[in-house]
Amino acid sequence: MTTLRNIQTKGTGVFLQAFAGEKTERTPVWLMRQAGRYMKEYRDLKEKWGFLELCHNPELAATVTTDAAKALKVDAAIIFADILLILEALDLGLHFEAGEGPVIEKPINSAEDVIALPQIDAGQKLSYVGQSIKNTIHNLGPEIPVIGFAGAPFTVASYAIEGGGSRNFEKAKSFMYHQSDAWHMLMDKLVVHTASYLNMQVQSGASVVQLFDSWVGALSPADFKEFAFPHLKKLIASISKDAYIVYFGTQTNGLLNQLSQLDVDTIGVDWRIDLDTAWNIIGHDKGIQGNLDPVTLFADKETIKKRAIEILEKAQGRPGHIFNLGHGILPKTPVDNVKYLVEIVQSYKNK
Ligand code: CP3
Repeated sequence: MTTLRNIQTKGTGVFLQAFAGEKTERTPVWLMRQAGRYMKEYRDLKEKWGFLELCHNPELAATVTTDAAKALKVDAAIIFADILLILEALDLGLHFEAGEGPVIEKPINSAEDVIALPQIDAGQKLSYVGQSIKNTIHNLGPEIPVIGFAGAPFTVASYAIEGGGSRNFEKAKSFMYHQSDAWHMLMDKLVVHTASYLNMQVQSGASVVQLFDSWVGALSPADFKEFAFPHLKKLIASISKDAYIVYFGTQTNGLLNQLSQLDVDTIGVDWRIDLDTAWNIIGHDKGIQGNLDPVTLFADKETIKKRAIEILEKAQGRPGHIFNLGHGILPKTPVDNVKYLVEIVQSYKNK
């Protein structure tokens, strides 16, 4: 693995060693959505506070991140926030409805709506997330580095246009096809704001930033190439060199060739492809993260162990493998199984 970055001052431990391209004696592990409803501590906090209230409060957000990382003994901690906070900062209105997921109150329907987006300093407006990062670093110390994140432009634009989650993305794709100029203008604006937001997180001490392109797999390779890839390239080029970058998507098997051309350190993959097959396509000059089906955590311990070891064996102890799930932990996941998975990965010695 090669790396252009040198951020050793930001922390220690196997997680950053793996990003630096060093061989580690064991594989680092953290889990997407490691802080959330499957944990009793989190559900208790949610009795008193709304989800957005927790995100907006740097003390509470840092507590959520810290408690989860300590309970699981993982090698890194992702900051407690959401990919949709940037749409709230852009005055599109955001709330979460129980059982229904996120709602964007004033979705984008037209070129006029894109032009009317406020000119904001996103890093400044979302500086509370930077404060959460600083508090978390204070709580956890250098051994457990903090991961910042943002949504990638396609996934965030899809929420902004659909007004919430979507199965087939008819509205977002229709906008893309019928109002291509407005689509590209929207993506340009999201790139500027997302870069500002991420660079503020890096300045606040995040050692790694992850771009969540959760729904990019809805795009054909041709649509990805035309409507998403150029913007992703621009965004990645504007991210500070003081942090490593992970690009994560799901259902990306048909896109991996294009993703391998992004100037990021690590690509996150889901469970619909074997890790070694994916890594061969991505190229071993980049790292790889992910791969375990989150629903495996509903299985018996023997199965969890078997599937985890299979992934570790496919990685062959190569530098740059970060163990993770292929998508976030689900709300009903048994906590004991999550802790067990972390133990299995951490006790496996790389040859
Ligand atoms: O440990 C962590 O990963 C916590 C930080 C985190 C959250 N959201 C907290 C959260 C992260 C990294 C995210 C990213 C995020 N948010 C993504 C990308 C990752 C993915 O899962 O694909 C997406 C698509 C969102 C948007 C979003 N936020 C949705 C669709 C939902 C509702 C679905 C759900 O799980 O309820 C959320 C809410 C949300 N974000 C919760 C948490 C802990 C649950 C809120 C609650 O407590 O009710």
